[in-house]
Amino acid sequence: MREDILKVLITEQELKNKIAQLGAQISRDYADKNLLMVSVLKGSVIFMADLMRAITIHARVDFMAVSSYGSGVKTSGVVKIVKDLDLPLDGYDILIVEDILDSGKTLDYLIDILNQRNPKSIKIATLLDKPERREVNIKPDYSGFVVPDEFVVGYGLDYAEKYRNLPFVGVLKPEVYSH
Ligand code: XMP
Ligand code: MG
Repeated sequence: MREDILKVLITEQELKNKIAQLGAQISRDYADKNLLMVSVLKGSVIFMADLMRAITIHARVDFMAVSSYGSGVKTSGVVKIVKDLDLPLDGYDILIVEDILDSGKTLDYLIDILNQRNPKSIKIATLLDKPERREVNIKPDYSGFVVPDEFVVGYGLDYAEKYRNLPFVGVLKPEVYSH
């Protein structure tokens, strides 16, 4: 698996330090709120698991899975809910936990759907941000790292469902895509 990686973009230690900072900041910002962390499967699971343990106030968690219509690495913007949340959102301050904010279309659509359920607030925490690729006007409230416009894998992010279990974020060798 490691031999497929061209370069490491973000090391385990950098991830650890950044998530500690984000957790501390979220703990302060949500001290008087009613935090519900919503993880969008599957890419955000590792970030979610680490971020929730870096948060020192009460935090509820829930999970949803969406699939975007359209294939491969491009998002159409229309998403289908494959697994919905268990909890109703009224009264909660929602923090959407995402792996990567790319075009922004997925989250834009998701926020519309979640807003219809009357939460108190909705904010976004994304591990990675690719602002160069943005197609809709959306900004993360909490962001770990800005990454260049390259396809990245690891720490939850996949290529063809592989590489999620790499403990760092990296870029694949080009020849891996042509297999
Ligand atoms: P949009 O474009 O709607 O899409 O913001 C966000 C989703 O697209 C996937 N995505 C990636 N997945 N490496 C990945 O493994 C990447 O570089 C990448 N860029 C976008 C991801 O599922 C994200 O939630
Ligand atoms: Mg994703």
